[in-house]
Amino acid sequence: MAIPEKEKDFYKYTKDHRFAAMYPLLAKEIVNKYKMNKGVCLDIGTGSGALSIELAKLSDFEIIALDSEPEAIDMARENCTMHGVKADRIRFVEGVVEEMPLPDESVDLILSRGSIPFWKNHVPAFREIVRVLAPGGEAMVGCGFSRYQTLEEVEVMRPKWSPDVKDERTSWKKGGFLVDTLRAAGVKEYNIVDDGYGTWVEIHKSGER
Ligand SMILES: C[S@@+](CC[C@H](N)C(=O)[O-])C[C@H]1O[C@@H](n2cnc3c(N)ncnc32)[C@H](O)[C@@H]1O
Repeated sequence: MAIPEKEKDFYKYTKDHRFAAMYPLLAKEIVNKYKMNKGVCLDIGTGSGALSIELAKLSDFEIIALDSEPEAIDMARENCTMHGVKADRIRFVEGVVEEMPLPDESVDLILSRGSIPFWKNHVPAFREIVRVLAPGGEAMVGCGFSRYQTLEEVEVMRPKWSPDVKDERTSWKKGGFLVDTLRAAGVKEYNIVDDGYGTWVEIHKSGER
């Protein structure tokens, strides 16, 4: 499925992107929060590649950026060039979260920002996340902004959706959907953070890294 013309600006990671100020702060927050800056990092539903690009600038992660949409991957590669991120810093993979073409227990840090509302099937998606996560690994999956921004900055950035789009994009975080999904997927070690900065599922896999 091609990216609709009216959504293409979201895939161009220029200084005018509406979240341009957020991605570098989110990348810095993640590196500090998990005290990780090397190993394998997977960005699920990378879109423009913005988060991967910012992580590539400030860490030594081997980054895998996965997206279901080949056109998004093409645009993300162009964004890497624009940001001076060398082609060998991020490995782009076409695929869906529900069936990732990645080996078991091969990823130290899994990130996914803004992709979960679009997933077709959340139970196999979370099963896959746990499958590819290495022992001692961490995952942070959800939607939101960086805690290094003020809530006032977040409010300015927050998309203004029509009621039907809002219903569609937020159904995954309503009621017991996440808890039921995580239970069905057999995810045990998790924490759901839901506040003004966003909604995130944080998963830890026991074991030594
Ligand atoms: C709103 S964009 C978010 C992009 C980026 N992570 C960000 O924060 O700017 C959602 C992305 O998720 C991708 N996506 C949607 N469903 C997917 C799935 N089942 N598996 C992998 N990627 C998916 C879309 O192609 C799109 O690029």
